[in-house]
Amino acid sequence: MVGSLLPTHATDAKMEKAIERTLRKMTLEEKIGQMTELCIDVLGHDENGKFVFEEDKLHKVFAQYKVGSILNAPGPVARSREEWKEIIGRIQELSMREIGIPCIYGLDQNHGTTYTTGGTMFPQNINVAATFDPALAEQAATITAYETRASNCPWTYSPTLDITRDPRWSRIWESYGEDCLVNALMGSAAVRGFQGTNPDDMGKTRIATSIKHYMGYSFPRTGKDRTPAYITVSDLREKCFEPFRQCVEAGAATLMVNSASINGVPVHANRELLTVWLKEQMGWDGMIVTDWSDINNLYTREHVAADKKEAIEIAINAGIDMSMEPYDLGFCDLLKELVNEGRVPMSRIDDAVRRVLRLKYRLGLFEHPTTDMADYPLYGSQQHAAVALHAAEESEVLLKNTDGILPLKKGVKILLTGPNANSMRCLNGGWSYTWQGHLADRFTEQYNTIYEALCNKFGAANVTLEQGVTYVAEGAYTEENAPQIDRAVAAAAAADVIIACVGENSYCETPGNLSDLALSQNQRDLVKALSATGKPIVLVLNEGRPRLINDIEPMAKAVIDILLPGNYGGDALANILAGDTNPSAKMPYTYPRNSAELTTYDYRTSEEVDRMEGAYDYDAVVSVQWPFGYGLSYTKFAYSNLTADRTEFKNGDQLTFSVDLKNEGDRAGKEVVMLFSRDMVASMVPENRRLRAFTKVELQPGETRRVSLTIKASDLAFVNPQGKWTLEKGDFRIQVGSQVAMVRCTETNVWETPNK
Ligand code: BGC
Repeated sequence: MVGSLLPTHATDAKMEKAIERTLRKMTLEEKIGQMTELCIDVLGHDENGKFVFEEDKLHKVFAQYKVGSILNAPGPVARSREEWKEIIGRIQELSMREIGIPCIYGLDQNHGTTYTTGGTMFPQNINVAATFDPALAEQAATITAYETRASNCPWTYSPTLDITRDPRWSRIWESYGEDCLVNALMGSAAVRGFQGTNPDDMGKTRIATSIKHYMGYSFPRTGKDRTPAYITVSDLREKCFEPFRQCVEAGAATLMVNSASINGVPVHANRELLTVWLKEQMGWDGMIVTDWSDINNLYTREHVAADKKEAIEIAINAGIDMSMEPYDLGFCDLLKELVNEGRVPMSRIDDAVRRVLRLKYRLGLFEHPTTDMADYPLYGSQQHAAVALHAAEESEVLLKNTDGILPLKKGVKILLTGPNANSMRCLNGGWSYTWQGHLADRFTEQYNTIYEALCNKFGAANVTLEQGVTYVAEGAYTEENAPQIDRAVAAAAAADVIIACVGENSYCETPGNLSDLALSQNQRDLVKALSATGKPIVLVLNEGRPRLINDIEPMAKAVIDILLPGNYGGDALANILAGDTNPSAKMPYTYPRNSAELTTYDYRTSEEVDRMEGAYDYDAVVSVQWPFGYGLSYTKFAYSNLTADRTEFKNGDQLTFSVDLKNEGDRAGKEVVMLFSRDMVASMVPENRRLRAFTKVELQPGETRRVSLTIKASDLAFVNPQGKWTLEKGDFRIQVGSQVAMVRCTETNVWETPNK
């Protein structure tokens, strides 16, 4: 798409006519109702674990205020499909009767069926990133869409595209790691999986996506959730925007906004980012929804508005189409006043409502406001489970394997220890049956914890569980019980190998904030005490973000970072430990070694300064525990013969690089072939490396394959401080595995955004 402006969707003329017809018949109140989203809890209460509607509340919301969207699970706790059939069925019945327009119901089905019981739970997106296989992202999303539609719900707040630049942040496991290309490719594959390939007609097995959180949410200067970010013009356009741009091109139907601010401006108040970049420059015809209560936050937290009315004026004029209020109908009254006072133009209201209606038409909700469970026989099936298990196997990263201690020998006596050893909550992380994931063990009886999976794989008689450190069941993620390290140490006497499962308990958003990036003291003490026994230790990391382990990592013979692999993560780990699965995942982010050395792989070259002499004698070399893209296999791959199909290029050209990849070991394995570039001299300090393409290939023992990766010349461009794409003349170093090749750009080109 070099040089051309969109429109992003092949919008259907018949549908547009229907939208206009519907819009013409609507009163201002009805239009504002369509722009309002409320939480299900506003409509009733729970009685003995079942949601009960209250008639007066239903009347107020649908008959009086004509509200067009409801979200969340009551509680919020996962419900059965039968209950969803009733809840959403009742809402649709009322919506059609009182408004004549279907409701759009939204759920955070963030790694599978978060809020519907008995469905398929996939690894979290951070694991999907570690697979480096976009086809898996698409498959997982396809299944999640099917199962969500099977639960009567047509809309999810996924995928998350926040490039994870700061390991302290509590949400880095929700998106696809630190690199913008990985987020763009995984995210757009997920959009295709959720929505199918025709965004104008998603059909009955697909759901609408909400790509989030647009944008720059993951750069909080404090490291804490929903706090301000300060981002350069270049990084904003080149790195933060790019995954959203590609997902919009893939057809994303809706977008959710970053709750916080960038360079002092709350994104919900930023007309440039919402209206100019998305709707005008990209010609995008999708719908923008706020995050939770974020119009209110403009006056309660951000203080850019004096009161709610002013906050609404700012946000709607900036380009917000739907407000996730989620409790207050005052939004409707105040927005009506603003329109009547001429402070929000009617044209803005009509634009917003068209976008909401378009979403509902695209989903076919006017014709079929509800779905029938019987049409979805594969819900929670073995077929879907097999994909989730495969995704988990492909996502667990082998980081260290001294003396080939892994795979473990048959009959080996295992001491399984650590707080993550016997918990489904830990394997799943947040957005699992509840927001914080804290009740997951109540819903997951049929799945295997690491302990259960190891017993199945190695024989219960060979596995002793003595955890030494445990979390407080269903407690806050930081809460640990009084440790019993001595018991674990005593149990080690009878073991051949210690498998220590450490990391974090589940959390989500602000409750997941932290004050120390190091792994908990108890857990580090446990590993140190076990190390003193002299028994070999396999360290299993099960965590939503990289907790520092520099003091215990040297004590481990092997390390596997399983991240948050979901309900089949224990089984996947057992398969890897036994050698039935050969690990192939790679780190989706830089794993830091020290608390004051936090960086990403694409740092600017001058961050790494060699020792200087004289008065300015200092050493700025950053040390990391494991770099982005790192991960081992049980076999060994060798790279040779990297060639380029051209050594000189200019904008508009394509470049194909080919390399020989050999499996030198004695078992089949998969390798992620990554192509990195470095701009040797540029008018902005160049980055150390940038990932430009990748592919995952499987090779039999002894097999050699020539692997080719093609990029566009424009992929090597950067965004200059004036916000323009720039491809500069000069040398670029291309690196694939151990191989390096030089290519030369012969002409400088600068062009307007957003096109790459
Ligand atoms: C989160 C979003 C989520 C929304 C709706 C917010 O608190 O930031 O990611 O989609 O709630 O549940």
